[in-house]
This record gives sequence, C-alpha cells and structure tokens, in this order.
Amino acid sequence: MQSYQTEQDKRGDWKPKRKRKKFNMQKYNRRSFIDFLGKGFIAVGMSPVLLESCSPAVRKKLASFKLPFSKIAPTSTDNVELAEGFNYKVLVSWDDPISDNDRFGFNNDYTAFLPFDPANPDDGILWVNHEYLDPMFVSKHKKGEPKTKEQVDMERYSVGGSLVRIKKEGDAWKVVHNDKYNRRLNGHTAIPINWKGGLKNKSEAIGTFANCSGGVTPWGNILTCEENYQGYYGETVYDEKGNPSRSPGWYEWEKVYDDCPPEHYGWVVEVNPKTGEAKKQVGLGRCCHECATVHELPDGRVVVYTGDDSNDECLYKFISTSKGSLDEGMLYVAQIETGKWLAVDFDSQPILQENFRDQTEVLIQLRKAAVLLGGTPLDRPEDIDVDPITGHVLVSLSNNKPKGNYHGSIMKVMEADDKHDSLTFVAETYLAGGEDSGFSCPDNMAFDPAGNLWITSDISGSAIGKEPYEAFKNNGLFLVPRFGEQAGQVIQVASAPFDAEFTGPYFSPDGKTLFLSVQHPGESSESIDELSSHWPNGGSSMPRSSVITIQGPSLEAVTNI
Ligand code: FEO
Ligand code: CA
Ligand code: CA
Ligand code: CA
Repeated sequence: MQSYQTEQDKRGDWKPKRKRKKFNMQKYNRRSFIDFLGKGFIAVGMSPVLLESCSPAVRKKLASFKLPFSKIAPTSTDNVELAEGFNYKVLVSWDDPISDNDRFGFNNDYTAFLPFDPANPDDGILWVNHEYLDPMFVSKHKKGEPKTKEQVDMERYSVGGSLVRIKKEGDAWKVVHNDKYNRRLNGHTAIPINWKGGLKNKSEAIGTFANCSGGVTPWGNILTCEENYQGYYGETVYDEKGNPSRSPGWYEWEKVYDDCPPEHYGWVVEVNPKTGEAKKQVGLGRCCHECATVHELPDGRVVVYTGDDSNDECLYKFISTSKGSLDEGMLYVAQIETGKWLAVDFDSQPILQENFRDQTEVLIQLRKAAVLLGGTPLDRPEDIDVDPITGHVLVSLSNNKPKGNYHGSIMKVMEADDKHDSLTFVAETYLAGGEDSGFSCPDNMAFDPAGNLWITSDISGSAIGKEPYEAFKNNGLFLVPRFGEQAGQVIQVASAPFDAEFTGPYFSPDGKTLFLSVQHPGESSESIDELSSHWPNGGSSMPRSSVITIQGPSLEAVTNI
C-alpha cells in the first residue's frame, strides 16, 4: 500500500452523526434503464415538440444513425486504450513548465476550454483543476516523518488550478508557453472571500485546493469546487454540546501554517480566466462540492446545481438574484421524496434560527443545516449536467458502499414546468450502474454538441480489479448515444491506465476535440522504486497525471451528427 490513502478511501470519516428520514434506496435504484423508450426510438428523451420540428429527412437520418465503431472490452493495460477511429495526444502533464515562472499542477480534474472568438474554436484559454496531491511524488515526504515547511510549500503549489492558452496547429493542440494568460492558482494564492464581514475575521483566504469539478458561467468565468478540503488544514468538528475542536488534515498543513482556518475552504470559487482574479462564493454554501453546473434562466439569472460528494450527503441548487452575478441569491437543498427544494435560509426557517446564530453559520455548517431541513441523503452526488435537449438535470450518484450500493446510478431531476427556478421537481433513476449496463461508479459527465451523453467512471484505485469490480477492469469513458439503433446503450469508448480515472471531459465547441484529464495513474505504487504505472512516457518513467486531447473520425461522426 502507498503511504497515503486514496482520495476516495478517505471519504466519510469526518461527518457529523445524523438522524434522517429513511429513504427507500431499493425502490430508487432499480437496475434498469427506465428512461429510454426503446433502442429503435429516434431520439432518446427528445421531446415530441422537438421531434415535430425535425424535417422528415432529419428524422430518417437520426433514426438510422449507427456508430462507426464497436465498443471496447474492459482492459487492464497501462495505457489509454481507445475504440477504432479515436486517437489521443498528451497536451500537458504534471510539472510541465507553462511559463518561466509556473508549472502545471498535480492530479488534473475539471477542464473548461474557452475560445477567445466563437468563430475560431482553435484558440483559447484552458482552465484545469488540480484536485489533490500524492506526497510520494510531489514532496517526497515519507509517512511518519515530520513534514518540513519546504515540503508543505511544494504540496501547496501542486494543487488549485492552471490557466493556459492553447492553440490547435494542424490536428495537434499545443500549450502556448509563456502566454500572458498562463498562470496558476494554488494553495498559496490569496483569494477574497465574497461575504459581508468575511469569515473568521478575515476578508481573504490563503489558497484553494481539493478542486474537483466545476462549471462555467454565462459571463465566461470559471467555477472551481473545493471538494475534500478537510484533508489539508483539517476541519472544525463539534461535540454533542456544540463545543468545537479541530480534526487533523491528512496532509497536516496546519502543523506548518496555523493561520488558515478550515472555514476558509469548502467553497465554490469563481475565477476570471483572463485576469486570474478569484473570489470564494460563500452564498453557495460550504460542503465537499463536486461541481457547480450553471444553467441560465430566460431573464439572465442563473441556477447553479452542486452536489456534496460524500456518503449520504445532499444535492443543492443556488438561484441568483440578478443576472450576470453569483454575488447574491438563495441556496436550496433537495428533498427527493417530496420533490421539494427547501430554502437554506436563516430568516425564513425557524429550525435554523433554533440551531444557528446567523446565515453565515448556516452556510459554514451546511451539512448540519441540510439535515435539520430534511434534505435527502444521497449516494455520493458527483457531477451534474443539464440535458441540452430536454432540460432535465442528470446527477451522478457514484456509490454508497456502507449501504451496499457498489455501482451507483445516474438520477434525473425534472424541474416543475421545465423551469429551473421551480421549487418542486420529480426525480427518477436514469441509468443504473452494474454488470448489466457495463459501467460502475459514475463520476463526471458531459453532453457533446449533438446531445449525446458521455460518462467517466471512478472505481477507486484500491478496488480496481477486485470484487465486485473485477469485471470492469480499469476505469473508463462511456458513450450513451442519443440517436439511432444504439440509442440508450452504454458503449465503452476508452480505458484508463493503471490506477487512473478519467476526469473533466469537456468538448471543444466544434465537437472535434474532447479534452480529458487522466488523473492519478500509478496511485497505488508501493514507492518511487516500485511504480504501478509508467503512463504516459512508459519505460521506467514516473507516472504523470495529464490532460489529453481525444480526436478522430469516430468522434466527429458522433458529435457532428
Ligand atoms: Fe473528486 Fe467527487 O470526485
Ligand atoms: Ca469527481
Ligand atoms: Ca460535467
Ligand atoms: Ca470521484
């Protein structure tokens, strides 16, 4: 075993004890595809109105569409394996210089590509999250030894996010070295706290880390989500009388920096990709945010969906007060059984007034507030995407091993009257993981420009190849076609290297490139001398998390139907 647990293995060891309404998981997680209307249906989930608007020629084309490739079988190779007609190139790897001053961070996750000019999809800024670090590679720290300030500083630098200018030359994307937009946000970066009065008597936090998935606002800013923040400076925990104490961070940064309160982390951070200016958006609450998926309302206000990725945690949405800004708004937690969005609002909720001093305390202790309000505990809500054709909200529920849910599912939330600011909804299972469907532990999702769904899996490194995950082998990338004969099937398109997971799928606007992170290859290595992966460079090289670009005729056939 490596000296540090994997990110996924660490989850769930710090949550407050809770009493919640019993949720009928057996009924909810039925192992069938209930959303698909039949494999021959012309367009899965496409509303009748949209179908009617298609010309007969288009309807015929969609109905007869056939994938130009076959799915790959699960594999256990130390490589990125792809279906026929797809290829990949490594764009940028951990520790690559991006400028004379900065290097690319560790364990890349969420990516977002923002072209400068909508008419030119080949030149723009790529944002990349750097979720967490492995001290064995980053600081060479050995478990049990005291960590030096220099080691902590190396670790703080390795996480956060990268901004790089990228351009496509011929078929190959390249990072423009030293471009004026290239910069890092990391564990050292001072970031303003967007909340009146600040937090813990400070208006600025030092650093962002645990940056898992994210989102993009209609005004072109990045949202990057601080997920397992408790691993760095620890967490404030409360006993039954409400007395606070501090749990230690897995990385024990608090032993070197004692001026970074846990309450400064666990937020959604909004970043201007052109200037690097950032702010912690306190109004969206504090939890292990997986993602922040933004949907613009007809009047320009936005709804941000976000999940708290831990066993038995909740789904939230934030509705902004004004257009073009997340600075003010209302946060809601989902009660799935009744289909209600419940306001996480001190002023209007007596139960919150009985248990907290003010809205600041409510947002800091969001999990406790969610329990009090009756939010529904879910099976690790990960990524969220809004179906561009139906408007339905898909939520990955990765797994919940203590409850016997090993393979997870994807939940579909249908907002009342198809309005994303509705306060009522209906939810049902969209896809269930398992050997029947061919995928397990769904994590990230993305819709391509044609409306097909892509899913990545996250079987934890320590579980890959073991029961009940043996049949799935390495983690993968899966396509759920929307059209034609294979509509609704789960087609494995790619397989990840040893120990790795694919994260952060993001399509270029023309659908010709899929940006994809390959995270934590070689994570279960015993030591630097006994590596379990040598991807991407092979031989005896050290594994390096990298962003890859996937292209090829098969991709274009699917995304440009
Ligand atoms: Fe960082 Fe929830 O995956
Ligand atoms: Ca994730
Ligand atoms: Ca997504
Ligand atoms: Ca994950």
